[in-house]
Order: sequence, then structure tokens, then C-alpha cells
Amino acid sequence: MKDGNGKKVVLAYSGGLDTSICVRWLVDRGYEVVCFMADVGQGGDYKALTKRALGAGATDVIVHDLKKEFADEYVWPSLKANALYENQYPLATSLSRPVIAKHLVEVAHKVGATAVGHGCTAKGNDQVRFELTVRMFDPKLEIIAPVREWEFDSREAQIDYAKKHQIPVDVTKKKIYSIDENIWGISIEGGVMEDPWVAPPADTYITVTPIEKVTAKPREISIEFKEGIPIKVDDKAYKSVELIEYLGKLAGKYGIGRVDMIESRVVGIKSREVYEAPAGFVLLEAHEELERLVLDGELLRLKQQLAVTYADLVYKGLWFTPMREALDAFINSTQRKVTGSVKLRLSSGLVQVIGRKSKHALYQENLATYSTGDKYDHSMATGFMHLMGLPYEGAAKHLLKKGK
Ligand code: ARG
Repeated sequence: MKDGNGKKVVLAYSGGLDTSICVRWLVDRGYEVVCFMADVGQGGDYKALTKRALGAGATDVIVHDLKKEFADEYVWPSLKANALYENQYPLATSLSRPVIAKHLVEVAHKVGATAVGHGCTAKGNDQVRFELTVRMFDPKLEIIAPVREWEFDSREAQIDYAKKHQIPVDVTKKKIYSIDENIWGISIEGGVMEDPWVAPPADTYITVTPIEKVTAKPREISIEFKEGIPIKVDDKAYKSVELIEYLGKLAGKYGIGRVDMIESRVVGIKSREVYEAPAGFVLLEAHEELERLVLDGELLRLKQQLAVTYADLVYKGLWFTPMREALDAFINSTQRKVTGSVKLRLSSGLVQVIGRKSKHALYQENLATYSTGDKYDHSMATGFMHLMGLPYEGAAKHLLKKGK
């Protein structure tokens, strides 16, 4: 790579060994490094991490608390869309990349940097999300991905380099899994789970209790939505971040919210992933049921098809595109009716819908009932079927067995 020549680069810094080495590696190549840390709910001692970044050679460290913005502007739209990648993954990591990358560009502009950097490898989706997003905002910014370029061919070589440069390495904490965490969920990959036949070990359970250890007694909860957004749990109002955190803790205790799947990455490979998103699974279940109550069948089906498109778009890092804006406009129009409550039962490893109500409900008991008070016009049924069946009269004739 060209010599940095004192150019300023803003590095998306996590505080882990990889991005700490990135700092030093960039400094070694003549860059001035400013670290940017995005707090999306991954936890961590930002004071200590700031010290670590400065120790590795950064000239400044900037931290943005993005939890609320992430919940309100990324997680909620995705919930309204019912986005689940390949029908399983609630997209926690995928959703966080665009908000982090947007702030990375803002910080770069603020400090007058001409480049941004990230610690992603060449094999993952995160590089795609970061780099596409950065270019969507500012195609002139140079993008540097040290991990994709550097010479270290093993973990040991990295550790040697870190030690040589006095970057503190916690050698006792062997890096077994690659873990990415935010308020919406956790992605856990690698280690023995690279063999897709091997069950996830006990130490991969982070916020969700393994089913065999669940002691919580089954209980009912209710979630109230306003225009597609959850606002109350058991009649208590919560702000977005707090609601996700509260539900996550609660559902996690029931062993709810884990998925173990093979996933198709953007870069062509299949990977084995374990996800935890206890609040996500409960909210998606509740939100979808409320939609079944208030949206007509045709609209519901169109929306279900677009949920797949939406999840793919989020997964591929196409958040800040006209396509997402157009989809959100459609989805928000449907959500005007998604106000009401859903009652759920939590038990060991299971979340079940057991009740729903809304002032916009299309369900009408006096139409559905099989007992007294029936308002359904039975005389209409005959004509309805006659017309509906017209195009198909005789269509199955050839399937009949012929008599001798
Ligand atoms: N496969 C998931 C995704 O692409 C999780 C990625 C986790 N990232 C990480 N750096 N560990 O969204």
C-alpha cells in the first residue's frame, strides 16, 4: 500500500485486538489515525478502550452513542417489514453497519480526514456493508481495510506484532468465536462451530439461557403497538432501547431467541451462524400476528413477499438506497393500521401468540361465528362459488379413471 504521508484516516474501532493492531499498522505506514467507536449496545468500557486506542497510536478517539438512533431508525423499520434473512436471521449485525458507516463518514468530514478504515476480513458481509455505505455518502473517501491486506498469516504473528508495539493483549482470553453484539442481537461464529454438524457449545450462550437450564415458570405478556412500533409491555410504556433490553432479558430467561443456521453470504460462501435475538423473535412474532388481524389478505401477502426483498436488501448493505426508501414508504402506509395489542405466552424455548386486539381489526365475530348472532349472508355463497369455479369447469376430467 502507498505511504500514508501523514494523511488522516478515521478507523471504525471496536477495541478488540484486530482493530488495535490496525491502528498501529496504519501509523507504521505513515497515517494519522483517529478512532471512531460506535456504541450500538455492545457494552464495553469506553474509557479503557479509548486509552487502548491512544496507546496503540491513535491521535484522537471519538465515541458516539448510537443506540437510540439505531433502534428508532434501523431496527423499527426492519421490524415493521418483518425482515428475517433466509427466514431465520433477524439481521442485528447487518442493520448496525449502515448506521456505523454513516457516522464514520460524518466523523471523517468533521476531522478533515481523506480516508476511512475498518477491520473487516475479505470473507465477510460486513466489508460489503461498510464500503457500499461509505461510497453512498462520499465516493471520494479512500477506504482502507488493513486486515484484508496485512502480512500476518496467523493469530500468533498478530500477537507478536501487538507485543512488539506494546499493544495490550489478553492472551488468557483465547479468541474462540467471532462475536458481534448490539441491542437487537448477537452473532456468534467460528471455533468448533465451523463444522456444521457440531452442536453449539455451552459457552456460545450469551443472553439466552439453554433450554435445559430454564427455571422460569411460563407466563403471559402483552405487547402494545402503535403504527407498527412496540410502545408498551404489560401496559408499561418503554422507550425503544429500554423496551428491546427489557424484552430481551425476559425472553432470554425462557431460552427464547436462538437460531443455528447455514447462511448464504453476499461473497458467495455458505457459513454457519448462531444468533441470539430474544427480543427480536418475540417482537416479530407479535407484530406479524397483529398484521394478520388488521391487513386484508391481498395486502398481507404482498407485504410478506416484500419482507424477503427487504431482508435481502438489509443483508447486502443496500440500506441507503432508493429501493429501501420506496419499500419503507409502502410499509409505513400499511403500518397506519398496525395499532393494537398482542398477548403471548412465554415458556421454555417457546413464544406463542394467545390473543390479539385492535381498533382496526378486520376480524368480526358476528361474521365468523358459527353460533347465534351470525350476520354473514349465507345466500351469497352459492353464487360466489358458481362464478369462481367457471374457468375450471371440466379442468380435471382427464384425471378420472375410465370405466371398462
Ligand atoms: N453473518 C452475519 C452477518 O453477515 C454476522 C456477521 C458477524 N460479524 C462479525 N464481525 N462477527 O450479518
